[in-house]
Amino acid sequence: MLPPRSKRVDNQPHIRPAAREDLDALFALDQTCFRPGIAYSKTELRYFLFHPRSISVVAEDGGSIAGFAIVEFLLEEGRRIGHVITIDVPAALRRTGVGRLLMDALLDSCRESEAAAVRLEVAVDNEAAIAFYQRLGFTQMGRMRGYYMGKLDALTMRLALQG
Ligand SMILES: CC(C)(COP(=O)(O)OP(=O)(O)OC[C@H]1O[C@@H](n2cnc3c(N)ncnc32)[C@H](O)[C@@H]1OP(=O)(O)O)[C@@H](O)C(=O)NCCC(=O)NCCS
Repeated sequence: MLPPRSKRVDNQPHIRPAAREDLDALFALDQTCFRPGIAYSKTELRYFLFHPRSISVVAEDGGSIAGFAIVEFLLEEGRRIGHVITIDVPAALRRTGVGRLLMDALLDSCRESEAAAVRLEVAVDNEAAIAFYQRLGFTQMGRMRGYYMGKLDALTMRLALQG
């Protein structure tokens, strides 16, 4: 007999745009996902969630927030690029496919906006996130010394979307 797929949710969370009323809950989640110095202040998070060149999505499951993610659009050498600001899934819900669901929604938005690529930074010691992005097809482009708090390096990763 196959073991039960206990952590894999069959009823997937619903993906929707982030709303102003979500700010407190998203801030609280971000505080649990990142250490002090990397987690955003509420002011920073509000800015990234709602600035005019960003797309922010929330995964909602039975009225509870099951995660969120933000991408902003930048111009690089005249081409539109998506830049992932953050993706946060509560520890209890990780490895159940929520991150994938959120990132698929962001990547769909990037393709609809005709972004040529998506890039991001991730702390070198964040093995879960690095494995997650690699699984999605992101490849390492470089390393930024002291990117976090002046002492923790970041890997830069990129996914090409179109030519
Ligand atoms: C990174 C993060 C968003 C991944 O979310 P998630 O919901 O757990 O990811 P998923 O369940 O969709 O995983 C998809 C695939 O990514 C890979 N993956 C995810 N977490 C992994 C881990 N801890 N170790 C190895 N591979 C992992 C696996 O291939 C996984 O597929 P599988 O479970 O079928 O093997 C989540 O760990 C998180 O919120 N971390 C804290 C915040 C953070 O670090 N965000 C990234 C900032 S740059």
